[in-house]
Amino acid sequence: MVTTGDGHNDRGGSPHLDGSTHPGGNGSSGTTAGGTKPATVRIAAVGDVHCAADGRGTLKPLFQRIAAAADVLVLCGDLTDYGLPEEAHVLAGELAAAKLPTLAVMGNHEFHSNQQDEVRKVLEGQAGVTFIDGDAKEVCGIGFAGAKGFGGGFGRGTLGAWGEPAVKAFVQEAIDEAMKLEAALARLRTPRRIAVLHYAPIKATVEGEPVEIFPWLGCSRLEEPINRYPVAAVVHGHAHNGTPEGRTGGGVPVYNVALPLMRKSYPDHPPFRLLEVPVNPDAPADARGGPSATQAAADDAALGHAPVQTTVR
Ligand SMILES: [Fe+2]
Ligand SMILES: [Fe+2]
Repeated sequence: MVTTGDGHNDRGGSPHLDGSTHPGGNGSSGTTAGGTKPATVRIAAVGDVHCAADGRGTLKPLFQRIAAAADVLVLCGDLTDYGLPEEAHVLAGELAAAKLPTLAVMGNHEFHSNQQDEVRKVLEGQAGVTFIDGDAKEVCGIGFAGAKGFGGGFGRGTLGAWGEPAVKAFVQEAIDEAMKLEAALARLRTPRRIAVLHYAPIKATVEGEPVEIFPWLGCSRLEEPINRYPVAAVVHGHAHNGTPEGRTGGGVPVYNVALPLMRKSYPDHPPFRLLEVPVNPDAPADARGGPSATQAAADDAALGHAPVQTTVR
């Protein structure tokens, strides 16, 4: 249940992580021929909403738009500005507009005030958010594996564990986060896996930021498990001035969904990315139950502007 500022609201029923209840949403984008399981799942991804203590009302329109377009919401860290519980309370109230299963990883901002556990508790308890920090969850037949990630740089510039203890500790943090992601990916048995991060796993999606700060925006160590497992797509945030799309060395699509970047890159679209993911990728395209072109156009018209849409194969 969600408690808003006056402590009396809720999200109208907790959506189940298996996607079986969408009290305010529009359900999945289709059903299999013989049952009710969705054939194509629509995943809305956004990061870096940076909810402030005085931010009541600022994110609600976005979450309403997401609830109308998606089956699942994924939040890619930097949920709050200073990592304060009062900010989390405001965000929980804003999320009341999105009555759909919501997964999240934390960002570096959640740690700033050393109250990250309280922030997590507020969002779990009041907004029904499920954090996947080194954890895996299946929603609507899609597997999600999450970790915050960490910095350390990319490619040949990746910082190595050599020299001072402080350097070794920094590198160990990046290694630990990569291992968390790997453990989460290994637990999933779904045909489709989505990796959720805050920090970038590749350099391509931080391009656009000053090159001097690349090492603080992500780390290639995060890319290794993504290339080892059959990952359908990666979403991350953190690099507000990066690049919206890239690919790992293994060809896995990577989307930087930081809200400021989405706003800047796609000014005519609502600032989130919508991934359309087939639950059964082996089924013929016309049997996946996706919306017809006509219906999709009608839905888009109803939304005013369509979200930035990507079909994951
Ligand atoms: Fe951020
Ligand atoms: Fe960040």
